[in-house]
Amino acid sequence: PPATPQYRPGYHFTPAAHWMNDPNGMVYYQGTYHLFFQYYPDGMVWGPMHWGHVTSTDLVSWKEQPIALYPDKLGMIFSGSAVIDVNNTAGFGKDAMVAIFTHHNPEEEKKGSNKHEYQSLAYSLDAGKTWKKYEGNPVLPNPGIADFRDPKVSWYEAGKKWVMTLATKDRITFYSSPNLKNWTKESEFGEKLGAHGGVWECPDLFPMTLNGKTHWVLIVNLNPGGPNGGSGTQYFMGNFNGKTFTPSSTDTKWASYGPDDYAGVTWNNTGNRRLFMGWMSNWTYANQVPTSPWRSGTTVARELALQQVGNQIYLTSQPVKETVKLFPSVTTFKDLTVNKTLDLTPKLKNVGDKFQLKLKAQQLASFSLVLSNAKGEEVIIGYDQPTNQYFVDRTKSGQLGFSDKFAGRHTAPRLSTSLQADVTLLVDATSVEVFADQGLTVMSELFFPTEPLSKLRLTADTSFLIQEITYAPLAPKAQ
Ligand code: FRU
Repeated sequence: PPATPQYRPGYHFTPAAHWMNDPNGMVYYQGTYHLFFQYYPDGMVWGPMHWGHVTSTDLVSWKEQPIALYPDKLGMIFSGSAVIDVNNTAGFGKDAMVAIFTHHNPEEEKKGSNKHEYQSLAYSLDAGKTWKKYEGNPVLPNPGIADFRDPKVSWYEAGKKWVMTLATKDRITFYSSPNLKNWTKESEFGEKLGAHGGVWECPDLFPMTLNGKTHWVLIVNLNPGGPNGGSGTQYFMGNFNGKTFTPSSTDTKWASYGPDDYAGVTWNNTGNRRLFMGWMSNWTYANQVPTSPWRSGTTVARELALQQVGNQIYLTSQPVKETVKLFPSVTTFKDLTVNKTLDLTPKLKNVGDKFQLKLKAQQLASFSLVLSNAKGEEVIIGYDQPTNQYFVDRTKSGQLGFSDKFAGRHTAPRLSTSLQADVTLLVDATSVEVFADQGLTVMSELFFPTEPLSKLRLTADTSFLIQEITYAPLAPKAQ
Protein backbone atom coordinates (compact mmCIF):
# COMPACT_ATOMS: atom_id res chain seq x y z
CA PRO A 1 0.00 0.00 0.00
CA PRO A 2 1.14 3.59 -0.65
CA ALA A 3 2.88 5.31 2.27
CA THR A 4 0.72 7.48 4.55
CA PRO A 5 3.12 10.01 6.09
CA GLN A 6 0.13 12.26 6.84
CA TYR A 7 -1.05 9.62 9.34
CA ARG A 8 2.26 9.48 11.20
CA PRO A 9 1.88 10.83 14.75
CA GLY A 10 4.24 13.62 15.76
CA TYR A 11 4.82 12.61 19.38
CA HIS A 12 3.38 9.16 19.91
CA PHE A 13 5.85 6.36 19.31
CA THR A 14 5.43 4.41 16.08
CA PRO A 15 8.05 2.11 14.57
CA ALA A 16 9.54 3.51 11.34
CA ALA A 17 8.16 0.47 9.54
CA HIS A 18 6.17 -2.71 10.12
CA TRP A 19 3.83 -4.12 12.71
CA MET A 20 3.88 -3.56 16.47
CA ASN A 21 1.55 -4.38 19.35
CA ASP A 22 2.08 -4.52 23.13
CA PRO A 23 4.70 -2.49 24.98
CA ASN A 24 7.07 -4.93 26.71
CA GLY A 25 9.97 -5.03 29.14
CA MET A 26 9.70 -1.44 30.30
CA VAL A 27 12.51 -0.68 32.68
CA TYR A 28 14.47 2.39 33.73
CA TYR A 29 18.22 2.03 34.04
CA GLN A 30 20.97 4.62 34.44
CA GLY A 31 19.03 7.56 33.08
CA THR A 32 17.42 5.68 30.19
CA TYR A 33 13.85 4.49 29.79
CA HIS A 34 13.75 1.24 27.85
CA LEU A 35 10.68 0.31 25.88
CA PHE A 36 10.54 -3.03 24.12
CA PHE A 37 7.51 -3.99 22.09
CA GLN A 38 5.84 -6.83 20.22
CA TYR A 39 7.24 -6.43 16.73
CA TYR A 40 7.05 -8.20 13.39
CA PRO A 41 9.87 -6.76 11.29
CA ASP A 42 8.85 -8.54 8.07
CA GLY A 43 5.30 -7.36 7.65
CA MET A 44 2.54 -4.92 8.40
CA VAL A 45 0.23 -7.40 10.04
CA TRP A 46 0.79 -9.52 13.18
CA GLY A 47 3.35 -12.27 12.55
CA PRO A 48 6.18 -14.14 14.30
CA MET A 49 6.83 -11.93 17.28
CA HIS A 50 10.15 -10.31 18.15
CA TRP A 51 10.95 -7.71 20.79
CA GLY A 52 11.65 -4.37 19.14
CA HIS A 53 13.52 -1.86 21.27
CA VAL A 54 13.53 1.92 21.67
CA THR A 55 15.04 4.13 24.34
CA SER A 56 14.35 7.57 25.71
CA THR A 57 15.75 9.93 28.30
CA ASP A 58 12.55 11.96 28.59
CA LEU A 59 9.63 9.60 27.80
CA VAL A 60 8.50 11.81 24.92
CA SER A 61 11.08 11.15 22.20
CA TRP A 62 12.16 7.64 21.35
CA LYS A 63 15.25 6.36 19.60
CA GLU A 64 15.05 3.09 17.68
CA GLN A 65 17.54 0.42 18.72
CA PRO A 66 18.34 -2.92 17.11
CA ILE A 67 15.78 -5.69 17.61
CA ALA A 68 16.43 -7.19 21.06
CA LEU A 69 14.89 -10.67 20.86
CA TYR A 70 14.27 -12.93 17.86
CA PRO A 71 12.08 -16.03 17.72
CA ASP A 72 14.03 -19.26 18.35
CA LYS A 73 13.38 -23.00 18.42
CA LEU A 74 11.26 -22.64 21.56
CA GLY A 75 8.92 -20.24 19.81
CA MET A 76 7.98 -16.64 19.14
CA ILE A 77 8.77 -13.98 21.72
CA PHE A 78 5.48 -12.90 23.25
CA SER A 79 4.91 -10.20 25.85
CA GLY A 80 6.75 -9.88 29.13
CA SER A 81 8.77 -7.63 31.39
CA ALA A 82 12.35 -6.72 32.27
CA VAL A 83 14.16 -6.21 35.57
CA ILE A 84 17.60 -5.08 36.66
CA ASP A 85 19.15 -7.87 38.73
CA VAL A 86 20.99 -5.57 41.13
CA ASN A 87 21.91 -8.39 43.52
CA ASN A 88 22.85 -10.82 40.75
CA THR A 89 20.29 -13.32 42.02
CA ALA A 90 20.25 -15.14 38.67
CA GLY A 91 24.02 -15.28 38.35
CA PHE A 92 24.10 -13.64 34.90
CA GLY A 93 26.11 -10.75 36.32
CA LYS A 94 25.60 -7.75 38.56
CA ASP A 95 23.03 -5.33 37.14
CA ALA A 96 22.11 -7.72 34.35
CA MET A 97 19.03 -6.53 32.51
CA VAL A 98 16.86 -9.64 32.49
CA ALA A 99 13.84 -10.07 30.23
CA ILE A 100 11.16 -12.50 31.35
CA PHE A 101 8.89 -13.28 28.44
CA THR A 102 6.51 -15.88 27.03
CA HIS A 103 7.77 -18.28 24.41
CA HIS A 104 4.82 -19.11 22.16
CA ASN A 105 5.40 -22.24 20.13
CA PRO A 106 3.30 -22.26 16.93
CA GLU A 107 4.19 -25.86 15.98
CA GLU A 108 3.00 -27.13 19.33
CA GLU A 109 -0.09 -24.99 19.01
CA LYS A 110 -0.87 -26.48 15.59
CA LYS A 111 -0.61 -29.96 17.05
CA GLY A 112 -3.41 -28.98 19.40
CA SER A 113 -1.17 -28.90 22.47
CA ASN A 114 -2.38 -26.74 25.32
CA LYS A 115 1.20 -26.41 26.56
CA HIS A 116 2.57 -24.18 23.83
CA GLU A 117 3.16 -21.11 26.03
CA TYR A 118 5.86 -21.04 28.71
CA GLN A 119 8.07 -18.45 30.38
CA SER A 120 11.72 -17.90 29.49
CA LEU A 121 14.62 -15.57 30.23
CA ALA A 122 17.10 -13.53 28.22
CA TYR A 123 19.72 -11.20 29.63
CA SER A 124 21.85 -8.27 28.62
CA LEU A 125 25.11 -7.26 30.28
CA ASP A 126 25.45 -4.03 28.28
CA ALA A 127 22.34 -2.12 29.32
CA GLY A 128 20.01 -3.66 26.76
CA LYS A 129 22.21 -3.41 23.66
CA THR A 130 22.89 -7.10 23.10
CA TRP A 131 20.98 -10.09 24.41
CA LYS A 132 21.53 -13.75 25.18
CA LYS A 133 18.79 -16.28 25.81
CA TYR A 134 19.23 -18.35 28.96
CA GLU A 135 20.24 -21.92 28.09
CA GLY A 136 17.90 -23.34 30.75
CA ASN A 137 14.73 -22.03 29.07
CA PRO A 138 11.90 -22.35 29.73
CA VAL A 139 12.06 -21.41 33.40
CA LEU A 140 8.34 -21.88 33.94
CA PRO A 141 6.86 -24.75 31.92
CA ASN A 142 3.20 -24.91 31.08
CA PRO A 143 1.00 -26.94 33.48
CA GLY A 144 -1.68 -27.43 30.79
CA ILE A 145 -3.30 -24.02 30.39
CA ALA A 146 -3.53 -22.87 26.77
CA ASP A 147 -3.34 -19.16 27.65
CA PHE A 148 -0.34 -18.94 29.98
CA ARG A 149 1.50 -15.75 29.26
CA ASP A 150 2.72 -12.17 29.66
CA PRO A 151 4.80 -12.41 32.89
CA LYS A 152 5.26 -9.16 34.78
CA VAL A 153 8.12 -9.59 37.24
CA SER A 154 9.13 -7.13 39.96
CA TRP A 155 11.24 -7.30 43.09
CA TYR A 156 9.10 -7.70 46.22
CA GLU A 157 11.28 -6.00 48.80
CA ALA A 158 9.27 -7.01 51.90
CA GLY A 159 9.86 -10.69 51.07
CA LYS A 160 13.24 -10.23 49.32
CA LYS A 161 12.05 -12.20 46.29
CA TRP A 162 10.86 -11.78 42.75
CA VAL A 163 7.12 -11.90 42.14
CA MET A 164 5.67 -12.88 38.77
CA THR A 165 2.13 -11.85 37.88
CA LEU A 166 1.00 -14.11 35.04
CA ALA A 167 -2.14 -14.11 32.90
CA THR A 168 -3.54 -17.62 32.97
CA LYS A 169 -6.65 -17.67 30.80
CA ASP A 170 -9.47 -16.44 33.08
CA ARG A 171 -7.42 -15.55 36.15
CA ILE A 172 -4.09 -14.29 37.39
CA THR A 173 -1.54 -16.68 38.87
CA PHE A 174 1.18 -15.34 41.15
CA TYR A 175 4.58 -17.02 41.34
CA SER A 176 7.69 -16.15 43.30
CA SER A 177 11.38 -16.84 42.89
CA PRO A 178 14.67 -16.13 44.67
CA ASN A 179 16.66 -16.13 41.40
CA LEU A 180 14.35 -15.66 38.37
CA LYS A 181 15.06 -19.28 37.38
CA ASN A 182 13.03 -21.33 39.86
CA TRP A 183 9.41 -20.34 40.29
CA THR A 184 6.94 -21.38 42.98
CA LYS A 185 3.20 -20.93 42.56
CA GLU A 186 1.79 -18.70 45.29
CA SER A 187 -1.89 -18.19 44.51
CA GLU A 188 -4.59 -17.49 41.94
CA PHE A 189 -6.89 -14.52 41.67
CA GLY A 190 -9.93 -13.36 39.78
CA GLU A 191 -11.74 -16.36 38.34
CA LYS A 192 -14.99 -14.95 39.70
CA LEU A 193 -14.17 -11.24 39.82
CA GLY A 194 -13.94 -8.47 37.26
CA ALA A 195 -14.72 -8.54 33.55
CA HIS A 196 -14.51 -11.88 31.72
CA GLY A 197 -15.71 -11.07 28.22
CA GLY A 198 -12.42 -12.41 26.86
CA VAL A 199 -9.08 -13.89 27.79
CA TRP A 200 -6.99 -12.18 30.47
CA GLU A 201 -3.66 -10.87 29.20
CA CYS A 202 -0.78 -8.55 30.13
CA PRO A 203 -1.18 -8.06 33.89
CA ASP A 204 0.76 -5.81 36.22
CA LEU A 205 0.98 -5.54 40.02
CA PHE A 206 2.42 -2.65 41.98
CA PRO A 207 1.99 -0.69 45.21
CA MET A 208 0.93 2.96 45.33
CA THR A 209 0.30 5.26 48.25
CA LEU A 210 -2.57 7.60 49.00
CA ASN A 211 -2.44 9.74 52.13
CA GLY A 212 0.35 7.63 53.53
CA LYS A 213 -1.48 4.34 53.05
CA THR A 214 -0.29 1.65 50.64
CA HIS A 215 -2.70 0.17 48.12
CA TRP A 216 -1.79 -2.51 45.60
CA VAL A 217 -3.03 -2.14 42.05
CA LEU A 218 -3.54 -5.20 39.86
CA ILE A 219 -3.91 -4.35 36.18
CA VAL A 220 -5.52 -6.98 33.98
CA ASN A 221 -5.92 -6.42 30.26
CA LEU A 222 -8.58 -8.47 28.53
CA ASN A 223 -9.58 -9.15 24.98
CA PRO A 224 -12.37 -8.98 23.97
CA GLY A 225 -14.72 -7.60 26.64
CA GLY A 226 -13.48 -4.01 26.93
CA PRO A 227 -15.91 -1.24 27.92
CA ASN A 228 -16.40 -0.03 24.34
CA GLY A 229 -15.89 -3.40 22.64
CA GLY A 230 -12.77 -5.44 21.93
CA SER A 231 -9.60 -4.89 23.92
CA GLY A 232 -9.70 -3.17 27.32
CA THR A 233 -7.74 -2.55 30.52
CA GLN A 234 -9.39 -3.27 33.88
CA TYR A 235 -7.79 -3.05 37.29
CA PHE A 236 -8.38 -4.10 40.87
CA MET A 237 -7.47 -2.24 44.05
CA GLY A 238 -6.41 -4.31 47.02
CA ASN A 239 -3.60 -5.65 49.12
CA PHE A 240 -0.73 -8.01 48.29
CA ASN A 241 1.27 -9.84 50.97
CA GLY A 242 3.84 -11.57 48.80
CA LYS A 243 1.55 -14.53 48.32
CA THR A 244 -2.03 -13.47 47.69
CA PHE A 245 -3.86 -10.47 46.30
CA THR A 246 -6.93 -9.51 48.33
CA PRO A 247 -9.25 -7.07 46.53
CA SER A 248 -10.73 -4.18 48.49
CA SER A 249 -13.78 -3.89 46.23
CA THR A 250 -15.58 -6.19 43.85
CA ASP A 251 -16.66 -3.82 41.08
CA THR A 252 -14.96 -3.72 37.68
CA LYS A 253 -12.79 -0.64 37.24
CA TRP A 254 -11.31 0.48 33.91
CA ALA A 255 -7.96 2.21 33.56
CA SER A 256 -9.11 3.61 30.23
CA TYR A 257 -12.42 3.62 28.36
CA GLY A 258 -11.63 4.42 24.74
CA PRO A 259 -11.23 1.60 22.25
CA ASP A 260 -7.54 2.26 21.52
CA ASP A 261 -5.57 1.68 24.68
CA TYR A 262 -4.55 -1.90 25.29
CA ALA A 263 -1.93 -4.12 26.91
CA GLY A 264 -0.72 -1.21 29.04
CA VAL A 265 1.64 -1.94 31.91
CA THR A 266 4.16 0.08 33.93
CA TRP A 267 7.90 0.66 34.03
CA ASN A 268 10.04 -1.14 36.57
CA ASN A 269 12.60 0.80 38.65
CA THR A 270 11.21 4.33 38.42
CA GLY A 271 11.28 5.01 42.16
CA ASN A 272 8.30 7.01 43.37
CA ARG A 273 6.88 7.56 39.92
CA ARG A 274 4.60 4.92 38.44
CA LEU A 275 4.72 5.25 34.66
CA PHE A 276 2.36 3.52 32.29
CA MET A 277 2.07 3.09 28.55
CA GLY A 278 -0.38 1.19 26.35
CA TRP A 279 -0.63 0.04 22.75
CA MET A 280 -2.88 2.49 20.92
CA SER A 281 -5.07 0.07 19.01
CA ASN A 282 -7.65 -2.64 19.42
CA TRP A 283 -7.45 -6.27 18.27
CA THR A 284 -10.87 -5.81 16.63
CA TYR A 285 -9.29 -3.91 13.70
CA ALA A 286 -5.59 -3.47 14.50
CA ASN A 287 -4.49 -5.48 11.45
CA GLN A 288 -6.62 -3.35 9.11
CA VAL A 289 -5.94 0.27 10.06
CA PRO A 290 -4.97 2.22 6.91
CA THR A 291 -1.40 3.24 7.72
CA SER A 292 1.80 2.39 5.84
CA PRO A 293 4.64 1.41 6.12
CA TRP A 294 3.98 0.92 9.84
CA ARG A 295 1.00 -0.32 11.80
CA SER A 296 0.25 0.81 15.34
CA GLY A 297 1.97 2.90 17.98
CA THR A 298 1.74 3.52 21.68
CA THR A 299 -0.21 5.87 23.90
CA VAL A 300 1.75 8.71 25.48
CA ALA A 301 3.62 7.77 28.66
CA ARG A 302 1.42 8.48 31.64
CA GLU A 303 1.97 8.95 35.32
CA LEU A 304 -0.41 7.01 37.54
CA ALA A 305 -1.81 8.18 40.86
CA LEU A 306 -4.67 7.28 43.20
CA GLN A 307 -7.70 9.38 43.94
CA GLN A 308 -10.53 8.77 46.36
CA VAL A 309 -14.11 9.50 45.24
CA GLY A 310 -16.77 8.67 47.82
CA ASN A 311 -15.68 5.37 49.34
CA GLN A 312 -13.86 4.16 46.24
CA ILE A 313 -10.21 4.53 45.36
CA TYR A 314 -9.46 4.93 41.67
CA LEU A 315 -6.36 4.86 39.56
CA THR A 316 -5.82 8.11 37.64
CA SER A 317 -3.51 8.62 34.69
CA GLN A 318 -2.19 11.79 33.16
CA PRO A 319 0.42 12.52 30.53
CA VAL A 320 3.88 12.54 32.15
CA LYS A 321 5.06 16.01 33.12
CA GLU A 322 7.80 15.79 30.47
CA THR A 323 5.00 16.16 27.86
CA VAL A 324 5.04 19.91 28.58
CA LYS A 325 8.22 20.40 26.59
CA LEU A 326 6.50 19.21 23.42
CA PHE A 327 4.15 22.18 23.61
CA PRO A 328 6.16 25.32 24.47
CA SER A 329 4.00 28.01 22.89
CA VAL A 330 0.73 28.32 24.70
CA THR A 331 -2.27 30.49 23.77
CA THR A 332 -4.72 31.11 26.60
CA PHE A 333 -8.35 32.24 26.42
CA LYS A 334 -10.15 33.22 29.59
CA ASP A 335 -13.87 33.28 30.33
CA LEU A 336 -15.32 32.08 27.08
CA THR A 337 -19.03 31.54 26.77
CA VAL A 338 -20.08 28.91 24.31
CA ASN A 339 -23.55 29.81 23.15
CA LYS A 340 -24.44 27.10 20.63
CA THR A 341 -21.19 27.42 18.64
CA LEU A 342 -17.81 29.00 19.24
CA ASP A 343 -15.34 28.66 16.40
CA LEU A 344 -11.76 28.60 17.65
CA THR A 345 -10.23 28.26 14.19
CA PRO A 346 -10.06 32.01 13.39
CA LYS A 347 -8.84 32.80 16.91
CA LEU A 348 -5.98 30.32 16.60
CA LYS A 349 -5.11 31.13 12.97
CA ASN A 350 -3.53 27.77 12.25
CA VAL A 351 -4.88 24.98 14.43
CA GLY A 352 -2.90 22.15 12.86
CA ASP A 353 -3.51 18.51 13.65
CA LYS A 354 -1.00 17.98 16.48
CA PHE A 355 -1.63 19.89 19.66
CA GLN A 356 -2.57 19.88 23.30
CA LEU A 357 -5.75 21.56 24.46
CA LYS A 358 -6.83 22.08 28.05
CA LEU A 359 -10.19 23.24 29.19
CA LYS A 360 -11.24 24.28 32.70
CA ALA A 361 -14.76 24.96 33.85
CA GLN A 362 -16.11 25.95 37.26
CA GLN A 363 -19.32 24.19 36.46
CA LEU A 364 -19.37 21.39 33.93
CA ALA A 365 -22.23 21.30 31.42
CA SER A 366 -22.80 19.42 28.18
CA PHE A 367 -20.38 20.46 25.49
CA SER A 368 -18.69 19.19 22.35
CA LEU A 369 -15.32 19.95 20.91
CA VAL A 370 -15.34 19.29 17.20
CA LEU A 371 -12.19 18.57 15.19
CA SER A 372 -13.07 18.84 11.52
CA ASN A 373 -11.92 19.52 7.97
CA ALA A 374 -13.39 21.12 4.84
CA LYS A 375 -14.74 17.75 3.71
CA GLY A 376 -17.09 17.55 6.67
CA GLU A 377 -15.13 14.80 8.37
CA GLU A 378 -15.10 15.19 12.13
CA VAL A 379 -14.22 13.75 15.49
CA ILE A 380 -16.34 14.98 18.38
CA ILE A 381 -15.08 14.91 21.94
CA GLY A 382 -17.40 15.98 24.71
CA TYR A 383 -19.43 15.60 27.83
CA ASP A 384 -23.11 14.73 28.03
CA GLN A 385 -24.69 15.94 31.24
CA PRO A 386 -27.96 13.90 31.20
CA THR A 387 -25.99 10.62 31.14
CA ASN A 388 -22.96 12.04 33.01
CA GLN A 389 -20.65 10.62 30.36
CA TYR A 390 -17.65 11.78 28.41
CA PHE A 391 -17.63 10.62 24.81
CA VAL A 392 -15.66 10.48 21.60
CA ASP A 393 -17.59 10.14 18.36
CA ARG A 394 -15.67 9.06 15.26
CA THR A 395 -18.73 8.08 13.24
CA LYS A 396 -17.82 10.56 10.48
CA SER A 397 -14.05 10.65 10.96
CA GLY A 398 -12.92 9.86 7.41
CA GLN A 399 -11.73 6.40 6.38
CA LEU A 400 -14.01 3.86 8.03
CA GLY A 401 -14.43 1.04 5.53
CA PHE A 402 -11.39 -0.99 6.59
CA SER A 403 -13.47 -2.50 9.43
CA ASP A 404 -17.19 -2.42 10.19
CA LYS A 405 -16.30 -2.24 13.88
CA PHE A 406 -14.35 1.02 13.69
CA ALA A 407 -16.95 3.79 13.30
CA GLY A 408 -18.90 4.67 16.40
CA ARG A 409 -19.53 6.81 19.43
CA HIS A 410 -17.75 5.65 22.57
CA THR A 411 -18.61 6.67 26.11
CA ALA A 412 -16.99 6.76 29.52
CA PRO A 413 -18.65 7.52 32.84
CA ARG A 414 -17.64 10.69 34.63
CA LEU A 415 -16.32 9.39 37.95
CA SER A 416 -15.55 12.74 39.53
CA THR A 417 -18.32 14.24 41.66
CA SER A 418 -16.79 17.71 41.61
CA LEU A 419 -18.68 20.55 39.94
CA GLN A 420 -15.42 21.78 38.49
CA ALA A 421 -13.91 20.01 35.55
CA ASP A 422 -10.65 19.93 33.68
CA VAL A 423 -10.18 18.13 30.40
CA THR A 424 -6.85 17.70 28.60
CA LEU A 425 -6.80 16.57 24.99
CA LEU A 426 -3.73 15.34 23.17
CA VAL A 427 -4.39 15.41 19.44
CA ASP A 428 -1.80 13.81 17.18
CA ALA A 429 -2.85 13.61 13.49
CA THR A 430 -4.68 10.28 13.82
CA SER A 431 -5.50 10.07 17.50
CA VAL A 432 -6.94 11.89 20.44
CA GLU A 433 -6.27 11.04 24.07
CA VAL A 434 -8.70 12.51 26.58
CA PHE A 435 -7.74 12.95 30.25
CA ALA A 436 -10.68 14.28 32.26
CA ASP A 437 -10.87 15.31 35.92
CA GLN A 438 -7.17 14.91 36.73
CA GLY A 439 -7.08 11.66 34.84
CA LEU A 440 -10.03 9.91 36.51
CA THR A 441 -11.64 9.27 33.14
CA VAL A 442 -9.36 8.48 30.21
CA MET A 443 -10.14 7.70 26.56
CA SER A 444 -7.81 7.10 23.60
CA GLU A 445 -9.14 6.91 20.05
CA LEU A 446 -7.74 6.57 16.57
CA PHE A 447 -9.18 8.17 13.41
CA PHE A 448 -8.10 8.43 9.79
CA PRO A 449 -9.39 11.56 8.05
CA THR A 450 -8.79 11.97 4.31
CA GLU A 451 -7.54 15.51 5.02
CA PRO A 452 -6.09 16.75 8.32
CA LEU A 453 -8.67 17.68 10.95
CA SER A 454 -7.33 21.17 11.52
CA LYS A 455 -10.46 23.08 12.39
CA LEU A 456 -11.66 23.37 15.93
CA ARG A 457 -14.99 24.52 17.30
CA LEU A 458 -16.89 24.22 20.52
CA THR A 459 -20.61 23.64 20.74
CA ALA A 460 -23.03 23.58 23.66
CA ASP A 461 -26.80 22.92 23.91
CA THR A 462 -27.38 25.85 26.18
CA SER A 463 -24.64 28.18 27.18
CA PHE A 464 -21.47 26.84 28.73
CA LEU A 465 -19.00 29.04 30.54
CA ILE A 466 -15.36 27.98 30.24
CA GLN A 467 -12.91 29.65 32.64
CA GLU A 468 -9.87 28.83 30.62
CA ILE A 469 -8.80 27.18 27.42
CA THR A 470 -5.15 26.70 26.62
CA TYR A 471 -4.06 25.59 23.20
CA ALA A 472 -0.47 24.63 22.41
CA PRO A 473 0.69 23.24 19.06
CA LEU A 474 3.39 20.59 18.88
CA ALA A 475 6.76 22.33 18.69
CA PRO A 476 8.03 22.09 15.08
CA LYS A 477 11.34 20.56 16.16
CA ALA A 478 9.52 17.75 17.95
CA GLN A 479 7.90 16.59 14.67
C1 FRU B 1 -1.86 -8.94 23.92
C2 FRU B 1 -1.20 -10.20 23.39
C3 FRU B 1 -0.44 -10.89 24.50
C4 FRU B 1 0.58 -11.69 23.75
C5 FRU B 1 0.91 -10.78 22.59
C6 FRU B 1 1.22 -11.48 21.31
O1 FRU B 1 -2.12 -8.01 22.94
O2 FRU B 1 -2.18 -11.05 22.82
O3 FRU B 1 -1.26 -11.67 25.35
O4 FRU B 1 1.70 -11.99 24.53
O5 FRU B 1 -0.21 -9.93 22.41
O6 FRU B 1 1.70 -10.61 20.34
